[in-house]
Amino acid sequence: MIVSHDKFRLDGRTVVISGAARGLGAATAAACVESGAKVAVFDVEREQLDATTQLLRERGGEVESVEVDVTDRDQVQRAINHIVATLGDIWGVFCAAGVNQRGANEDYAEAFYERVVGINLKGTYNVMGEVLPLMRESGGGSIVTISSVAANRPGESSHEVYAASKGGVLSLSRAAAVRWGKHGIRINTLSPGYIATDMTGIASFPTELRSALDEVIPLGRPGEPEEVAWPAVFLMTDAAQYLSGMVFPVDGGADARGGVKFPD
Ligand SMILES: NC(=O)c1ccc[n+]([C@@H]2O[C@H](COP(=O)([O-])OP(=O)(O)OC[C@H]3O[C@@H](n4cnc5c(N)ncnc54)[C@H](O)[C@@H]3O)[C@@H](O)[C@H]2O)c1
Repeated sequence: MIVSHDKFRLDGRTVVISGAARGLGAATAAACVESGAKVAVFDVEREQLDATTQLLRERGGEVESVEVDVTDRDQVQRAINHIVATLGDIWGVFCAAGVNQRGANEDYAEAFYERVVGINLKGTYNVMGEVLPLMRESGGGSIVTISSVAANRPGESSHEVYAASKGGVLSLSRAAAVRWGKHGIRINTLSPGYIATDMTGIASFPTELRSALDEVIPLGRPGEPEEVAWPAVFLMTDAAQYLSGMVFPVDGGADARGGVKFPD
């Protein structure tokens, strides 16, 4: 059998990415453009989203950008409808919008829960909820969600609500993969370890903490956003056409090794 390199590309396919203004979402948007996809970028941060959109267009991408708060179902629905009208049927989705509110939540404040679970879990649910029926109509697609090492090793997370939200994403994705598989829809989850983004702030870690981190990661360093982006692209391509309902750690081997405890 000859394996075509085209199987690893997304030429002409429409991909929606939430949380695409920066970090893992922005890196994945860039990798999708490089792979030939038409890309829809959603984010709540208008200015940063505009800057990222401009960069993607400078790289030759056909890009539509929509300011969306993923916690608001109506906004998500309007944005998805707009993308189908402008870029055509949606093939791929990468749900990267997320928040990790560090610090203690000693009193179990409701607002804290609502923000973290609202963006991470409900936001993923909202995007999936609007896209799945459309993918069923158009004959299939591939959704990639983001959990975290925190889902399986909650001791590394600074608080339990983030871990719970990411455990929720994992279960939601696997359960949906079971239900929607018969419609040709694949759903997989990436579980990143320690990636240098604004969220983790790894770039400004004090030397001691940075060394501790490097030491527990078998590849000897935290990841870069592109190192999550390419696995996400792969999962959306036909090269991954028999992969569904799976969770893939993207962590330089840290999961095999055990982890590091971040300070609160
Ligand atoms: N960076 C890591 O090491 C790491 C590890 C495990 C999991 N993750 C997960 O990966 C995802 C991306 O993380 P990142 O490191 O790129 O973070 P980031 O903070 O750099 O980017 C997150 C993006 O989501 C957007 N966003 C936040 N709330 C939103 C909302 N309500 N609606 C739409 N967009 C919203 C932000 O504006 C931002 O552009 C998150 O779900 C995060 O929990 C990251």
